[in-house]
Amino acid sequence: MKMKILILGVFIIAILGSCKKDTIQPTVIPVNTTVKFSTDVYPLIATHNCTMCHGSGSSTGLDLSGNYSAVRTNLLVNAVVAGNSATSLFYTNFSGAGHKGISLTTVELSNVKSWIDLGALDN
Ligand code: HEC
Repeated sequence: MKMKILILGVFIIAILGSCKKDTIQPTVIPVNTTVKFSTDVYPLIATHNCTMCHGSGSSTGLDLSGNYSAVRTNLLVNAVVAGNSATSLFYTNFSGAGHKGISLTTVELSNVKSWIDLGALDN
């Protein structure tokens, strides 16, 4: 009986010992403290043809056509919580697997995040 318990104990220790902690490295998004909406964020809307679905009269309610100031206003109404990228769809839609087949580059994603976290300024 004692032998069986001992063998069982050794077996359990061997199994537990073989479990390694997964070391998944989170993607580090660099912060860009000099980000400007007009030059660092707004251009990605044309680059990725967002207005194909988000034009004026868009059924999604988010109009991304117009000049940078109009687009910023629409983003703030629909998809950006100034100072909080974690609750802003403009960031969270793209921080995972992408949005409607569109993935932003690391730099674009970093600029979107930084711009929102720095207050979503009109600059
Ligand atoms: C193929 C069509 C399509 C394209 C292209 C597209 N979107 Fe969207 N987007 C949608 C739809 C539909 C929704 C509504 C909610 C959903 O299904 O996610 C949406 C929702 C959003 C939202 C959340 C706010 C809202 O109105 O629901 C944001 C922010 C957004 N899109 C940004 C973008 C940006 C930025 C781009 C370009 C990089 C883009 N989208 C490209 C179709 C598209």
